[in-house]
Amino acid sequence: MNFQSNDKGVDKMKVKKAVIPAAGLGTRFLPATKAMAKEMLPIVDKPTIQFIVEEALKSGIEDILIVTGKGKRPIEDHFDANLELEMNLKEKGKEDLLKLVEETTDVNLHFIRQSHPLGLGHAVLQAKAFVGNEPFIVMLGDDLMDDTIPLTQQLINDYDATHASTIAVMEIPHKDTSKYGIINPGEQVNPGLYNVKNFVEKPEPDQAPSDLAIIGRYLLTPEIFDVLENQKPGAGNEIQLTDAIDTLNQTQRVFAREFKGKRYDVGDKFGFMKTSIEYGLIHPEVKEKLRSFIIELGKELSAEDQPITSSKDNE
Ligand code: G1P
Repeated sequence: MNFQSNDKGVDKMKVKKAVIPAAGLGTRFLPATKAMAKEMLPIVDKPTIQFIVEEALKSGIEDILIVTGKGKRPIEDHFDANLELEMNLKEKGKEDLLKLVEETTDVNLHFIRQSHPLGLGHAVLQAKAFVGNEPFIVMLGDDLMDDTIPLTQQLINDYDATHASTIAVMEIPHKDTSKYGIINPGEQVNPGLYNVKNFVEKPEPDQAPSDLAIIGRYLLTPEIFDVLENQKPGAGNEIQLTDAIDTLNQTQRVFAREFKGKRYDVGDKFGFMKTSIEYGLIHPEVKEKLRSFIIELGKELSAEDQPITSSKDNE
């Protein structure tokens, strides 16, 4: 393989831009998502997309482009000022709530619409003009990540050392490989950083080169756009970002960073419920009540699970 360093003078650039694809239809949450953007579904009291935006800001990202589609206006409104609401809260002296509402507007957000939902690769291609000739981050809204150093920041730290694209991966159960992009890891250049041989989108378990799955955070060099412009549809007949990254890997080094923190899959019904409970258990307003409720519920459920004994058995 003939690796070349990036030749567009981007090697020393800081990563300041992020792209959040949010044009998906959210069919897994119907009917809730019939008239509401799935990114606005709250975990306790915060829309999932706000967690993503906060991770970007904590990682030093300065500009965020959200790729939207039909029915996604509430996302724009959420991050816009709501003067009527702010005045109302001020008049009622609800300073704590006012602070929460104002926090959502303190961010440089941009929006673009993806007119045809042709796949993740196509959604990212819509960011070409916004990104220009800079390295950038792609953040998928279905994955919330928790670690001492935010995962986006970890990828940026890797980029500062290697100047190469770096994709976040995590070990998943072997039976689940067909739900993810999977890497064929080469040697580790330092602990947890793989020099990837190739990338495969959603392989069946018997075809999967490993159990290391792509988990929704990508640091990409701008050359990905040249590849995406010519990318043919792949798995599911969609233009796949994974396929484009695999092609990029043939002309530039692409690394994978293994994430060791905690991942919450909020794109799946059960994952969403588990996340709500775990976040509820650390939310100052509800944590005590929720904890007692779960303990009581646990008692009731385990009583139900007891084998039914007839009165004779007890004699
Ligand atoms: C997308 C990507 C896949 C990645 C996954 C992570 O798939 O295509 O490579 O592993 O996100 O959540 P989707 O979940 O949109 O089908």
